[in-house]
Amino acid sequence: MEIDVTQGLQTTAECPLPGLETRVLPGDAAGVQAAAELLQAGQLVGIPTETVYGLAANAKDAAAVAQIFLAKGRPQDNPLIVHIARLSQLTEIAVNIPQQAYALAEAFWPGPLTVVLPRGEAIPASVSAGLDTVAVRMPSHPVAQAILRQSGLPLAAPSGNLSGKPSPTSAHYMLEDMQGRIPLIVDGGECGVGVESTVVSLCTPQPTVLRPGAVTAEQMARVLGYPVLLSHAITEGLKEGETAASPGMKYKHYAPKAQVTLVVGDARQYAAYVNSRAQQDGSGLMALCFAEDAPLLQLPYIEYGGTDQPEQQAQHVFTALRQLDEKGAQTVLAHCPQTTGVALAVYNRMLRAAAFRVIQLS
Ligand code: TXA
Ligand code: MG
Repeated sequence: MEIDVTQGLQTTAECPLPGLETRVLPGDAAGVQAAAELLQAGQLVGIPTETVYGLAANAKDAAAVAQIFLAKGRPQDNPLIVHIARLSQLTEIAVNIPQQAYALAEAFWPGPLTVVLPRGEAIPASVSAGLDTVAVRMPSHPVAQAILRQSGLPLAAPSGNLSGKPSPTSAHYMLEDMQGRIPLIVDGGECGVGVESTVVSLCTPQPTVLRPGAVTAEQMARVLGYPVLLSHAITEGLKEGETAASPGMKYKHYAPKAQVTLVVGDARQYAAYVNSRAQQDGSGLMALCFAEDAPLLQLPYIEYGGTDQPEQQAQHVFTALRQLDEKGAQTVLAHCPQTTGVALAVYNRMLRAAAFRVIQLS
């Protein structure tokens, strides 16, 4: 495939670039090759991972990394995750790597777990937004792995959404946000996990989950043989003046255009509440509900999985938030997920989409 690796190189703060068409290629050999060439030339490429789509650049190239922040509209103080293909790359990225990192890698890599470690010199400070730590993960998606191997590079990649929007779980949704901002997105189908990786810090006195995901604190505790803490920022907003252990936690996130509120209660309580709200004033009102709720509802709704199926909820939550926008919802009453296990990851994302608005019915 002929590919002009200079088209789309950003030399000014202008974004999206006039005249730049974002191409979408399938994740076959040609797509992987095109992605690798662009990445080697210092450009940005949208890549599929098992969690969400990522906006990738050469993690060792400070100029390429700067373009990530520009294309996403990402605040400069929110650090990126470095993706690797092989465990042997870990020592290029991080230093003073504790034994626990290898134990977690053995159990959960490749897969949806990111580990925060002391940053090595080869990784520019801008990747970590100036922190002396670095977040690393080895994705399991075969197309992500192929691009990592073909390029031979560690890839810095945040989620492929515009800052503040829900993370994209398909090439279609990534294109919606990145059209005209990057030269290429490689299509690897719908993401299986659907929420971003678990972020665990090994730079705190005890291992601490900074962002919940498909790998739970309980699973990691079983591997390590002692408890893994949960950062309070997962379920609470940061207090005035508090610094975030994981800077991503302080920003408004995952928000559709509609105003979302979480509603806590069983299926009957939830249905009674949203139906009465629809009767009072149903204009622009939609429910974001579990499959079991749907037959009870008298207003338009989007389902995001079964009540007791957190993996299904995780896979659908970001798509559901984008679909609410597509349907023109202005107010969304979302049935609140559980707050344990994998559901904690779903709860954490929805709480932020709802800007911490919660109604308790029970
Ligand atoms: O599943 C994922 O992790 C996806 C895919 C593309 O791999 N990536 C992703 O990246 O979600 P991003 O940038 O959207 O989220 C990275 C999170 C942020 O909350 C950030 O604050 C945190 O990881 N993070 C990154 N480096 C960190 C560090 N050195 N210390 C603490 N938190 C860090
Ligand atoms: Mg993100």
